Amino acid sequence: MSDTVEIFEVGPRDGLQNEKREIPVGEKIALVDCLSGAGFTRIEVASFVSPKWVPQMAGSGDVLAGITRAPGVRYAALTPNMRGYDDARTAGADEIAIFASASEGFSKANVNATIAESIERFKPILEAARHVDLPVRAYISCVTDCPFDGKTDPARVAELADTLFAHGCYEISLGDTIGQATPDSIARMLIAVRDHVPVSRLAGHYHDTAGRALANIDASLSLGVRVFDTAVGGLGGCPYAPGASGNVATEVVAEHLERLGYDTGLDLDVLRKAAGMAQAMRGGEA
Ligand code: HMG
Ligand code: MG
Repeated sequence: MSDTVEIFEVGPRDGLQNEKREIPVGEKIALVDCLSGAGFTRIEVASFVSPKWVPQMAGSGDVLAGITRAPGVRYAALTPNMRGYDDARTAGADEIAIFASASEGFSKANVNATIAESIERFKPILEAARHVDLPVRAYISCVTDCPFDGKTDPARVAELADTLFAHGCYEISLGDTIGQATPDSIARMLIAVRDHVPVSRLAGHYHDTAGRALANIDASLSLGVRVFDTAVGGLGGCPYAPGASGNVATEVVAEHLERLGYDTGLDLDVLRKAAGMAQAMRGGEA
């Protein structure tokens, strides 16, 4: 097993989407430009969702237009439907992400659709992306716990991961959306999903509400997962998941992985600087 772990920075999207203050586009661009020097291969910077649903992401096109693109970094965007896909293409996103839920309650709350309807919505996106060789990542939310439906059956996650992978998503990011997973529930879920999707195509996306994200990362590492989504400064949460707090902080995970002997390729000094910027943005002082 490789001793390299990739951290996928999602702070400028998952982090900032939940902030109450209207953050000026210039501040978002400055954060992304700082992160671009940290050594990431992928940074999620935009979300082409309805501004009525997530006002904070309304300037996503301007963010993609304003950043200084670093060589070797792919700048990613969320796309819930064809409108979002078209806008992401126009803005020059290097890859896109679709997002589904393993629980019906969160699916309805987040995208106003059943799980089955959301999959139908993604099919034309996947088809269009395939024609232009645009990589598509998929998120599955509520992989162990849902704020509306309670515990999630690992078999449902596995079935959905199978479907999304079969439709051409290159990686499936498994979201503990409300940060209630435990190492045991993460392990049960991963063991089910691994039977359907190669572990090399899975990522862990753990929010840190209960302070167990690092333990959940450790459980995932021991089952072979080598990609984790994190948000610099521990920013964020999901506005449609009551109780969701930020993703586990990038700088904390990077230091943790280094202590365990994994290579992340990240510059910890740049991360600390970006974490300071992120925290100032949260406090409205940037
Ligand atoms: P809807 O209200 O059912 O659909 O929303 P609609 O088609 O009636 O659209 C409503 C309005 O939005 C219309 O405007 C559309 O034109 C407009 P109006 O006619 O009322 O003026 N609209 C759009 N505008 C801009 N871009 C678009 C777009 N689409 C429609 N792409 C919809 C359905 C999916 C659009 C809505 O539910 C939505 O945008 N949801 C997104 C919610 C969201 O972004 N949540 C956070 C991201 S997911 C997450 O954080 C979890 C994750 O991190 C993993 C984890 O932690 O688990 C990924
Ligand atoms: Mg999330």
